[in-house]
Amino acid sequence: MISEPYKKEQESLPGESHLVPALLMCPPRFYGVSYVINPWMRGNLGKSSLSLAMQQWQKLYRVLSGMTHVLLVEPVVGSPDMVFTANAGLAHAGIVAISNFYYPERQNEEAHFRRWFADAGYRVADLPREIAFEGEGDALFSSDGLRLWAGYGYRTHESSHAILRELWGVEVVGLHLVDPRFYHLDTCFAPLRDGSLLYFPPAFDKASLARIESYYPPAQRIVVSEEDAMSFACNAVNIGRTIVLNRISSELECKLIVRGFEVIQVELSEFLKAGGAAKCLVMQLTPELHLQP
Ligand code: ARG
Repeated sequence: MISEPYKKEQESLPGESHLVPALLMCPPRFYGVSYVINPWMRGNLGKSSLSLAMQQWQKLYRVLSGMTHVLLVEPVVGSPDMVFTANAGLAHAGIVAISNFYYPERQNEEAHFRRWFADAGYRVADLPREIAFEGEGDALFSSDGLRLWAGYGYRTHESSHAILRELWGVEVVGLHLVDPRFYHLDTCFAPLRDGSLLYFPPAFDKASLARIESYYPPAQRIVVSEEDAMSFACNAVNIGRTIVLNRISSELECKLIVRGFEVIQVELSEFLKAGGAAKCLVMQLTPELHLQP
């Protein structure tokens, strides 16, 4: 599969770097729900259709390739969740912190992702093995890149935050996840490029909500209903003025359009069965390493 050329005409927003991110995806050739490590997978063992998953993933890949440069990592037999590349690690400024998966079911992926990043020229940082950390699934930069919002409670241990702070010299703000359906930060929290936030408040404890609210003024907070949250509305890929996500309500779509976003909905039902959607299927890369003119 060949990526389409990087398109330079992407509109950037005030305060945003003119470089749109390069993205990493993994084709779902060996995808399936073959164990249960989150509430979404329960009841869905063996129930996803590989051919439909492939069609849905291809659509997402085509949409994203039309906007930016998408690189691929080869899938591996026996690692069905490798499609969720957001969990490969966290990449920023040429450094990647490789994930230490909480569940043994996903730990085989680590070596494959580590090799991909080393080959791509990243400085690879490994956290101590006993500190669970699930990459971009639990760590999202604010739109200005100065603050790292870091989720903990289910898959990532809070003690990883100090290491991330040290690695990039950024402010790291912990957010405690308390609803097992929203076990990764990117399932309930999406900082958008215009400086606003799409989020599902009940997924956080009180202190974390206070942290969120002290950073984002009310006009910048887009609260998602439980129904939209359950459709993975917060699991959104935002590039410039475009937001790509699974199906959402027309009410939420309108709210985003009014803010000036173009909304592209891609049906991702087969991936919801494993507890993931658009954003989980994508990892942001360091553009400078991949977008040579
Ligand atoms: N089945 C996968 C897991 O439980 C889904 C991962 C979704 N990824 C994400 N970034 N939220 O690990």
